[in-house]
Amino acid sequence: MNATAGPMRGVTSYGDQGFSRFLRGAFLAAAGYDGEDLSRPLVGITDLRSDYNPCHRGMGEIIENVKRGVLQGGALPMVFPTMSLGETLLSPTSMLFRNLLAMETEELIRAQPMDAVVLIGGCDKTVPAQMMAAAVSEVPVILEVTGPMITNSWQGERLGACTDCRRMWAKYRAGDIDESEVSAVKGALATTSGTCMVMGTASTMACMAEALGLMLPGGATPPSPTGARLRHATETGRRAAELAHNPVTPSQILDRAGFLNAIRVLAAIGGSTNAIVHLLAVARRAKVDITLRDFDLVAAQTPLLLDLKPSGSGYMEDFDQAGGLPTLMKELAPLLDLEHIGISGKSLGNELLDVAPPQPWQSTIRTLGKPLGPVGALAVLSGTLAPDGAVIKTSAATQALMQHTGPAIVFESSDDVAARIDDPDLVVTADHVLVLRNSGPVGAGMPESGSMAIPRKLAEQGVTDMVRVSDARMSGTSYGTVVLHCAPESAVGGPLALVRDGDLIRLDVAARRIDLLVDDVELEARRLNITRKPSAARGWLRLYQDHVLQADTGADMDFL
Ligand code: FES
Repeated sequence: MNATAGPMRGVTSYGDQGFSRFLRGAFLAAAGYDGEDLSRPLVGITDLRSDYNPCHRGMGEIIENVKRGVLQGGALPMVFPTMSLGETLLSPTSMLFRNLLAMETEELIRAQPMDAVVLIGGCDKTVPAQMMAAAVSEVPVILEVTGPMITNSWQGERLGACTDCRRMWAKYRAGDIDESEVSAVKGALATTSGTCMVMGTASTMACMAEALGLMLPGGATPPSPTGARLRHATETGRRAAELAHNPVTPSQILDRAGFLNAIRVLAAIGGSTNAIVHLLAVARRAKVDITLRDFDLVAAQTPLLLDLKPSGSGYMEDFDQAGGLPTLMKELAPLLDLEHIGISGKSLGNELLDVAPPQPWQSTIRTLGKPLGPVGALAVLSGTLAPDGAVIKTSAATQALMQHTGPAIVFESSDDVAARIDDPDLVVTADHVLVLRNSGPVGAGMPESGSMAIPRKLAEQGVTDMVRVSDARMSGTSYGTVVLHCAPESAVGGPLALVRDGDLIRLDVAARRIDLLVDDVELEARRLNITRKPSAARGWLRLYQDHVLQADTGADMDFL
């Protein structure tokens, strides 16, 4: 049997390779594999099912279809578990564990015998972690996702997770719906298997996997419960078997052209700001030179083409029915590098040859001639409050607040926000700028707490948006004039640490600036009084805090 491929690839170290192969054969035989099975190349398939991850409850069916495709392609499927990151059931934030899943996936691909691997993700951090692992894999990797949920309705109003979760919760806070109504809404927001069905982080990262060429075309949008999702899974399995016979590695796919295509798509779909951090992390691992500036430059030339929440009005099933990402990329083709070759083995130009452009019967995918929104759905800022950069999703922000100067109200943590934001004695007006610190990668694992709630007393007066600034992230399903990812973060001495209540902060998106209007002498005096908190005493959090990088380079670990 071949010692560099198939089941005898990378034998266990017992000091006697013959014995190692003998022992491995014995244990594989115990699992029911015979010579015919073991003569085939192996395709690993990840299994991220967990009762702690409701978004992955449809993953079993998808795995079965991938396996069928692998067998049809003449290879042997081998399913293995990795940790599963369920966004809503992890504390303090799933982002704290993205790098851990990336490391685990990387190491299991390397340590176990496989000639190709299918990584199946879904919920927010799983696909980014798998892409980070893919970036350093020496065996072919192909991604598949669970697909989005299908929408439901409440009192005739169409609802989906989780832009509507936030919108309905805001209505409840403003007193527009009561306790029993918000309880009924809870049962109607997330009703099938799959991931959040707006252009949140999960949907965005599925689109990024497809746009980068790590997933077969058409894979980002089919909803989880549909046959189309299962057929895509089977096709993925077949392609994985081909890759096991004739390898194409991620290093052959992940180049600057591919990343620029993905960033172009990110801007055109009004994708999650989280994708910026994740793509920077993947590019860093792949040793591809991509910086925050690339996001700003590409976004500034790319109009918003997709009418999906939170930037628009539709849901992922509408996107899918309108043709999905291939149709959007067909429209975007004049702005894409069509020579880029993805995991299908074909150039993007060839992939798009038979794809129809956006059809007149639908309004979800718009045209370059009649876009949904202007260029610049995302913007990268810098200034005295974020010397290494910050981001804002302008497509989900309020136009009138894009240039705004107001006094700061500073919150030390998410707990501080929770404790004081609704305090009737809090002196706050719609002109104030809400500042949240200690919420960057080192400070708190970079939770999605940047879109702080509008103070209840202002919400009750009809205020729906305010300028908010933090070193945190926000959910891709959120909206508002929210400046995020300020780097360097406050916990490592970034300027956010120096802000005091009443300081003026100026946001000027057109000028790409976020500034603290306090003179340097005063800031230096304040700097003398800040102290850095010690790292956690033990465990993953200790390792993370000691080694995580800042948001502007992807918040990966410095040793990876
Ligand atoms: Fe899992 Fe939204 S909570 S994708």
